Amino acid sequence: MSERMLRGRVLSFRREPRGPADLDALDWFEDGAVLIRGGVILACGDFTDVQARAPGVAIVDHRPHLITAGFIDAHLHFPQGQIVASWGEQLLDWLNTYTFPAETRFADPDHARRMAASFFDLLLAHGTTTASAFCSVHSVSVDAYFAEAEARGLRMLGGKVMMDRNAPEALRDTPQTAHDDSAALIHRWHGRGRALYAISPRFAITSTPAQMEAAQALIAAHPDCHVQTHLSENTAEIALACALYPEADGYLDIYARHGMLGPKALLGHAIHLSDRERAMIAETGSHPVHCPTSNLFLGSGLFDGAALTAAGATSGLATDIGAGMSWSMLRTAGAAYTIAQLQGQRLDPLRALWWITRGNAEVLGLVDRIGTLAPETEADIVVLDSRATPELALRMGAATDLKDELFALMILGDDRAVVETYAAGNPVKPRP
Ligand code: GUN
Ligand code: ZN
Repeated sequence: MSERMLRGRVLSFRREPRGPADLDALDWFEDGAVLIRGGVILACGDFTDVQARAPGVAIVDHRPHLITAGFIDAHLHFPQGQIVASWGEQLLDWLNTYTFPAETRFADPDHARRMAASFFDLLLAHGTTTASAFCSVHSVSVDAYFAEAEARGLRMLGGKVMMDRNAPEALRDTPQTAHDDSAALIHRWHGRGRALYAISPRFAITSTPAQMEAAQALIAAHPDCHVQTHLSENTAEIALACALYPEADGYLDIYARHGMLGPKALLGHAIHLSDRERAMIAETGSHPVHCPTSNLFLGSGLFDGAALTAAGATSGLATDIGAGMSWSMLRTAGAAYTIAQLQGQRLDPLRALWWITRGNAEVLGLVDRIGTLAPETEADIVVLDSRATPELALRMGAATDLKDELFALMILGDDRAVVETYAAGNPVKPRP
């Protein structure tokens, strides 16, 4: 069984930090080490203590770099890598102009396979080791996605989008085929190796009531699968969704009526919400997912993290590629900081780093497996160089402490700061 020890400045979260000075929330070892065997973390602590557990083990010396848990991206779109940076539209026109034509190409298994290779190259280059992705409507896109993830040993979530209206013919399924294809994909992939299936009705606008009932049946039959969709991202979207479901009492209620809410539910965007909707999200244990660079790019609005937290909801954080402007969860945390600033709120650097690691693992219900460097969890790890670029090196020359370093990384860092990415204990950062 392969065994190695990573040496460096080791950082992992025990719980959510309560503020910028809450160092009790983290395990921090200035000269630390992580011992890995067979893809699992055996020990994490001071270098001398960990080395005593395994004398003679091969050491990968990453000093002076930071070693922390691999990043987790709670919402993005596998078929949208080639439409990142598409000019000029807001949500509904952006979907029709750029997104749907790009997704149509994923009916071709060769295209889907090529795109899967690029997709995981980019995620791993940016230090992201787990993501929850919407694939296209085509089952072959899901096969390409999970097959490539499996070949690289990655823990990934994903599912075929269900969509039977308000989209081009080539992207429409039916209530029955969406149900049967999703069920077959769950059977094929869910729980195979590290794969986890997410039932994925795209959003209320592209699903008829009959298809929402099909999604409800799938969710009831597969309660261990995640459920992902989009909610209240854009005001024109909300008006159309509510017009299509006149009996519902608001957008969220469409999903509530179809049994979609609960701790497995990931609600992308969740920007324009009423107090009642925030309370229902919290009561059901559903998770809003904040997509800050996407919300800025599409001009969708400002995610009110403080109101959701006050209501008792726990939110995820995500790139939302291809409306998102960066594959980097560091940059995404930086954008979340700026969106908080625009509303007089604060995202401190400890909480930001917790959010893109342990926080997102908690939202996904996977913290016993990923998101920390705790023993017996899966060895998905990122190594970060806080001086990777000239501007970071200059800034770090004036850094005062760990939280200052983390803040510089989340504002100025990206894939250039990622020295190595480990998945199940193996180095997987692609080299050009
Ligand atoms: N709402 C429904 N589909 C999408 C999508 O692909 N991207 C974004 N940002 N919002 C959506
Ligand atoms: Zn999305």
